[in-house]
Amino acid sequence: MNKIEELYYTDLDKLTSAAAEVCGRYFGSSVYLRGLIEFSNHCSMDCHYCGIRKSNYRAARYRMDEEEILSVIRCWHEQGLRTFVLQSGEDPLISVTRLCRLAEKIKNITGEKSALTLSCGIFTKKQFKELKNAGCDRYLMRFETSDERLYSRIRNGLKLKDRVNALYDLREAGIETGSGFMTGLPGETDETRIGNIKLCKKLELNMIGLGPFIPHPHTPLAYVSQESIDHAIRCLAIIRILMPGANIPATTATGSLDPSGREKMLSAGANVLMPNITPDKYKKDYLLYPGKICLNEPGSECIDSITMRMASTGKKLDWSRGDSLSWSQLNEQ
Ligand code: 5AD
Repeated sequence: MNKIEELYYTDLDKLTSAAAEVCGRYFGSSVYLRGLIEFSNHCSMDCHYCGIRKSNYRAARYRMDEEEILSVIRCWHEQGLRTFVLQSGEDPLISVTRLCRLAEKIKNITGEKSALTLSCGIFTKKQFKELKNAGCDRYLMRFETSDERLYSRIRNGLKLKDRVNALYDLREAGIETGSGFMTGLPGETDETRIGNIKLCKKLELNMIGLGPFIPHPHTPLAYVSQESIDHAIRCLAIIRILMPGANIPATTATGSLDPSGREKMLSAGANVLMPNITPDKYKKDYLLYPGKICLNEPGSECIDSITMRMASTGKKLDWSRGDSLSWSQLNEQ
């Protein structure tokens, strides 16, 4: 058995304590905050797992305009947030030119001491470079699963290798790269999850987001049975041990499936929380999966409740920009 396999079959409690220890060594008790704005749920993709897929005609579609987005950023920048994550579906009306203009305006408001993360789907290397020049520091694009056949099946015929190549393009464009996967997809096995962990490592990701797949009633995967969050916790712990300097969020999907899911992730090596600061009137329509938490509370309450929950894990919120420790920094240690 190689190291990853050995870790994979280790007792879960042992694994999470080892991961928590590594996390503490690299990040102390700090948990970085990222303000998440889900600015459009239009999507031209038809992923079988996702509630905002093109074919879900029941989804109420919205697109925030530039001024609405900027006013959320102004408000939260004043309150101290230093990282903003702008996420959307693959919205055909949001061109790279439009995203670049948005990034420039955001940077004018927040300055260089803040980081801007985008998560708006796949682009070409040239387009990623344009985004970088406009002020995009980080980009999130999950590979969802490392199993090529499963990937094609759940992403309506798309190819995993195109996704992986785009992740390399991001890195070459000088953007901090984030990816990750879901656990509990239909047909997934231990080998798939081990493959997912290996792919994160191979891609030398700066940020890794993972969480349980939650079947959405208005998608082709509606009738898949729900797995617990344990696979996600196990994978997270292993990834923290193997990639100690990466930024790893305690994800909303995990907190949605298990009321203490995010705390469990923070105790298993996660070091990031992403409060949802999307305006209330839109939040409820960014429903990738059912049962999503924080839909009925404004961003400020979301942060308050996170702060309270932190107390139970012995961690403290860190409002700084929180760059990932780069691979070169780690190599110098
Ligand atoms: N359950 C859990 N996570 C989901 N995502 C999309 N649909 C679901 C679902 N039904 C995740 C995907 C995507 C990210 C934005 O949200 O991993 O990349």
